[in-house]
Amino acid sequence: MSDWIEILKLDHIPRQGARVVELGPAGEATRVAIFRTATDQVYAVKDHCPHRGGPLSQGIVHGGQVTCPMHNWKIDLASGAAVLPDKGCARTYDSKVEDGQIFLRLA
Ligand code: FES
Repeated sequence: MSDWIEILKLDHIPRQGARVVELGPAGEATRVAIFRTATDQVYAVKDHCPHRGGPLSQGIVHGGQVTCPMHNWKIDLASGAAVLPDKGCARTYDSKVEDGQIFLRLA
């Protein structure tokens, strides 16, 4: 059985924007931010900044990074790691796009 789940269409996320999906049971769901870059790369990162939990989905996407709206830490979207000199890491999820549909792997 595949552990990839269909979540939304690529077109539903603006370039350099994000949408949030909730994974897991109600009340315990994890908010995952799905980012689309200017070049249509897609990344899935827990919507929780490693600094103080700010909503990364509301940050500014630039290149392969997002700047947290709370205190401007920059987070690498591929690894979830804070860009130096800041330290910390947000959880990331494997994602892929097929026929304009975004899938996440729950591992
Ligand atoms: S909560 Fe993200 S930079 Fe502080």
